Amino acid sequence: MNQTTNTEISKPFLKTLQGQTSKIPPVWLMRQAGRYLPEYMEIRKKAGSFLNLCYSPDMATEVTLQPIRRYGFDAAILFSDILVVPDALGQKVEFETGFGPRLDPITDEYGLRKLDINATPEKFEIVYETVERIKGSLPKDVALIGFCGAPWTVATYMIAGQGTKDQEPTRMFAYRNPETFQSLIDLLVETSAQYLIGQIEAGAEAVQIFDSWSGVLPDSEFEKWCVQPTKRLVGLIRKVHPDIPIIGFPKDAESSYVRFVEETGVNAISCGTSMSLDWIKKNLQPITTVQGNLDPMLLINGGEELERRVHEIKSVLSGRPHIFNLGHGITPLTPLENVARLVELIRSPSV
Ligand code: CP3
Repeated sequence: MNQTTNTEISKPFLKTLQGQTSKIPPVWLMRQAGRYLPEYMEIRKKAGSFLNLCYSPDMATEVTLQPIRRYGFDAAILFSDILVVPDALGQKVEFETGFGPRLDPITDEYGLRKLDINATPEKFEIVYETVERIKGSLPKDVALIGFCGAPWTVATYMIAGQGTKDQEPTRMFAYRNPETFQSLIDLLVETSAQYLIGQIEAGAEAVQIFDSWSGVLPDSEFEKWCVQPTKRLVGLIRKVHPDIPIIGFPKDAESSYVRFVEETGVNAISCGTSMSLDWIKKNLQPITTVQGNLDPMLLINGGEELERRVHEIKSVLSGRPHIFNLGHGITPLTPLENVARLVELIRSPSV
């Protein structure tokens, strides 16, 4: 066994992804680098625009490491955004404070034809450099996660030009222009595969595919726009890196979770806040590693309620592979001391 394999196998997060069980689950939090941290806000101000922060290897490395230094999480997640992909493809992307992402919406075949997969290295290379730098600075037992958005979720922003509540514009677009929409999804599968392979080759030890908006789709559309593209994306990555752990997150598509795991071949699945622990234990843990599902609002609340829930999650899920995480991203109002308390509770053998 070579040196690298030895080091990687000693990381608790990676061991759990390989199917091992431990009494103390590894922990990281979605959006762990972000606005609840004063040290993030300082760099964020210096960066000017959000995308400038994503494309500055120095600053992006620094904000990735901040939550690791402060809380000692078991995994770091590359600091970037899922909308780097449309930006690299040539679509205009901006982040407006207090509003969120704004893109030049794609309304027809012509808008789609303006996107160029050959233009992506210019931006992607900067991200790979960030991955390399993070990898070189992480403590030896902390794993590095790369990520991208799932084709469906990224497409919702590309079509609507912004976040919307139920993704009505994109659902309509897909019904009205199935061929154009399929071409967009195909382009995103191809681009995302290249992007994740690039991140893996730069040092990412696992990848997560965020499908934040998969829960708005009817069954047949979920199969077409979430399961199939994710399955293809996983297949393209596995052709080059057969052993890389891949975490899926088809958020709010609870009744399709088992099918999603079986069809796509992901190694682990992230569970949202509303999923029942007993259901997760009975239906998901026998077939895959699970991650989640603490309510980010409970982390803001803290106190005894938080303590009780952490205990409950640990006691129901600890018998099989489980990574402690939130059911969705940490929010800016989260008190710093509650995050410290959470990590303490997770690592306390008596809770
Ligand atoms: O988890 C991490 O610490 C890594 C970084 C990360 C960000 N976005 C940084 C970010 C990750 C993994 C993401 C994923 C992402 N981005 C998703 C999927 C996960 C989810 O939350 O459902 C989505 C849908 C996006 C798109 C996006 N980016 C939106 C809708 C917004 C605006 C809403 C918001 O929270 O402000 C962003 C901006 C964004 N991405 C911020 C951060 C830290 C805040 C921007 C800022 O600091 O000014």
